[in-house]
Amino acid sequence: MTFIQSFPDVHFDFGAINELGRELDARGISKPIIITDNGLVKCGVLQQVLDALPSEQDYAVFSEIPENPTIQGVEKALKVFQSEDCDGIVGIGGGSVLDSGKALRVITHQSGSLLSFLDHSLEINKSVAPYITVPTTAGTGAEITFGGGIHPTENAIGMGLRSPYIKPDLAICDPELTFTLPSHLTAATGMDALGHCIEGYVSNVSNPPIEAITLDGINRVINYIKRAVADGSDREARYNMLMAGLEGGMAIYLGLGPIHALANTFGNSPLHHGTLVTVSTPAVLRFYEGVIDDKLNNIRSAMNLSEGDNLADTITDLNRIIGMPSSVREMGYDKDDVDVMTSETFNSHFNAWAPKKPTQEECHQLVIDTLG
Ligand SMILES: [Fe+2]
Repeated sequence: MTFIQSFPDVHFDFGAINELGRELDARGISKPIIITDNGLVKCGVLQQVLDALPSEQDYAVFSEIPENPTIQGVEKALKVFQSEDCDGIVGIGGGSVLDSGKALRVITHQSGSLLSFLDHSLEINKSVAPYITVPTTAGTGAEITFGGGIHPTENAIGMGLRSPYIKPDLAICDPELTFTLPSHLTAATGMDALGHCIEGYVSNVSNPPIEAITLDGINRVINYIKRAVADGSDREARYNMLMAGLEGGMAIYLGLGPIHALANTFGNSPLHHGTLVTVSTPAVLRFYEGVIDDKLNNIRSAMNLSEGDNLADTITDLNRIIGMPSSVREMGYDKDDVDVMTSETFNSHFNAWAPKKPTQEECHQLVIDTLG
């Protein structure tokens, strides 16, 4: 049966950040903790947000969220939340910050260590801190999703945080805040959005309204990613990439698939998730040839291609143009145990939503193709 979930409220446009003060007031948040990372402090994005707040707005800032979200980062933010007597959370950043905020909203209100909630979604109840997200990358979809990943320690494999109760209350999507995103991250996060839209569209969950949204997201990435990568101040391109990222977040509500299974397998390294996603995409599209041809044709249309055009080659060519690698080996991945990679890909929970679940043998081929 189709279940159509609700998304968080969203303000979307240039200048949307000016809504933050009014929304804090409307939601009864008198002193939020604003969590972010050092990079966003340095490039002035945090200041852009603070400047948009009314002068009388009280707040505390915690800017030590690490590049990959960790338990330690969230626990440090909790100390500030408690010592500053905060009553809500604003997350400004990419997936790491926004996922950390989801964890923080749980442990501010529920007893137990953060570890006790990771991979134990049923332990999470509805008592959580109010949470507003402000994405500064365009692609993770974390601003509206109900899941996230937290690493127990910096180099450990991430654990899942997944519950309808951690879904943010509101996302404020202002393309102006994405202008300082460097071109390689614009490319990687943008292609992650494309991966979300493709995997959501072909997933075995039937949800026609969101499927239409995913095709729109695919079209926006294809039309605008090259411009956003070439010129970070291209307003039209930034607007459309941020919209594609949001639509990719909606796509995640349909589940993902083998592209993300592969990205997770190779994610036991410092390699960027979005880059791993786009490098994994061609092999999975080849795997789907002859299996879901009607859907692949609709993806071709969304990509402005003709029937019969090669989807995998199109992604490979696009990756080259926007400076993405063509294989995981080219990214510097140095692990050798293909059998372990195969079994991790095969056992990934992401395959639960695949229109055709790859066998062990097919996973072996996917791993070989993606490794390069
Ligand atoms: Fe992703």
